[in-house]
Amino acid sequence: MAIILKVWGNLYNKDTNPDGVINVGVAENYLPQKELTEWLNENVKFSPVDLTYGDSLAGGKRLRNNLANLYNTRLSPLTPLDPDNILVSSGVSSVIDQLAWVLADPGDGVLLGKPFYGGFQKDMYARARVKTVAVSLKDVEDPLGVEAVARFEEELLASEKRGTKIRAIILCNPHNPLGRCYTLEALNAYMRLCAKYSIHLISDEIYAFTLYPPTDASSAPPFHSILSIPPLMDPEYIHVAYGASKDFVMNGLRLGFLYTTNPRVKAAYSDIAFFTRPASVAEVMWSTVLENETYLDGYFKKNSALCARGRDIVTAWLEEHNVPYVKNTYAGFFIWIDVRKWLPTGKDSKTGKELTPVEQERKLTMRMVEGGVYLATGEFFGGEEPGYYRLSFANEPDELRLALERLGEALWGQHGNGEVETLVDGVRKVELGGMQLEG
Ligand SMILES: Cc1ncc(COP(=O)(O)O)c(C=O)c1O
Repeated sequence: MAIILKVWGNLYNKDTNPDGVINVGVAENYLPQKELTEWLNENVKFSPVDLTYGDSLAGGKRLRNNLANLYNTRLSPLTPLDPDNILVSSGVSSVIDQLAWVLADPGDGVLLGKPFYGGFQKDMYARARVKTVAVSLKDVEDPLGVEAVARFEEELLASEKRGTKIRAIILCNPHNPLGRCYTLEALNAYMRLCAKYSIHLISDEIYAFTLYPPTDASSAPPFHSILSIPPLMDPEYIHVAYGASKDFVMNGLRLGFLYTTNPRVKAAYSDIAFFTRPASVAEVMWSTVLENETYLDGYFKKNSALCARGRDIVTAWLEEHNVPYVKNTYAGFFIWIDVRKWLPTGKDSKTGKELTPVEQERKLTMRMVEGGVYLATGEFFGGEEPGYYRLSFANEPDELRLALERLGEALWGQHGNGEVETLVDGVRKVELGGMQLEG
């Protein structure tokens, strides 16, 4: 069984399932949900037109206008976004799936720096059969800095030599799982690289509004949407993905969009966009929030404060227990931690052979789940070596503290034996979808 299904099947609940598994592995922000639901219950109104096919194949005009306005008023794009260049789909996962299908042929590659949001692999491969070619940034001091770009070029050349044509680079800015933003210098260098090889640049900006004060402002590059920077490449080769799942905590509504000024990409994407158009009632819900600027200001402010509180709880615990982690995070609601020194060693109980590092990580993951806490694994998120995890902190403080206590038990306590057979099958067959990874 896939590990996440095991987690979802036995989720922690303070009152009804206190021994269940606390999920700090999936990037879901639970903090503003209650208040937002109450506000939606009071404010959302439907009209008969919301029960029709609407006025477009790729998102209704009302939502597309509101999304253009969101970017235009809050992210300083160089050229105001044109609602006609917005194509709405059922989540950013759908956007990435469809964009991969549009931009590349089966077997082509898209460069992706390590560590990365693991979903990109599945999104591009499951249907379009486009390979994510992972770029190791192991010895690069800042994976979001300009030094990383040379590694992308090396990997592009190596990949093409192996016979995999590179069609695009995908960036996630603000970054999941590092919780920080790319430097302006790096963004410029990625654009130059794309121009040099005539490849596309995909910028996933799904965490654009989940930003809060860093602990050290001197080493915290501000967020720049790729649309706010003078393009150093053909602007028609730049494509932005954004959605409601993270900043608006509405993962379940399945809302995302692609912004592109490329008429050919638009035409091809439009051909399939209707298959994944979200329900118009979901569009109305997002529009209702977007249209109320006062509510939106307050909501973003409060969400940032809640995320900062979660970050502070977790970093205090990590410091206290000497767990290494990416310092000075200020974006998203997770933190990338390094628990390599607590990987369980020893022999596989079935084969009698020494556990490989990957098996050690799987064993540790099982031990965590048996001990009642789930973190996203470095295996799924492109950790440079086994033993890295992404810990989400957008849970209520009491629950988060309990998750940390359970994590401590799994790392240095004796909880659970971490038998791994089910996990091995699960990770391979379900989470990675049987895809081939390169790099
Ligand atoms: C960087 C990034 N992109 C896309 C997604 C998927 O978003 P959606 O729910 O819109 O499909 C996630 C979800 O974790 C994410 O972290």
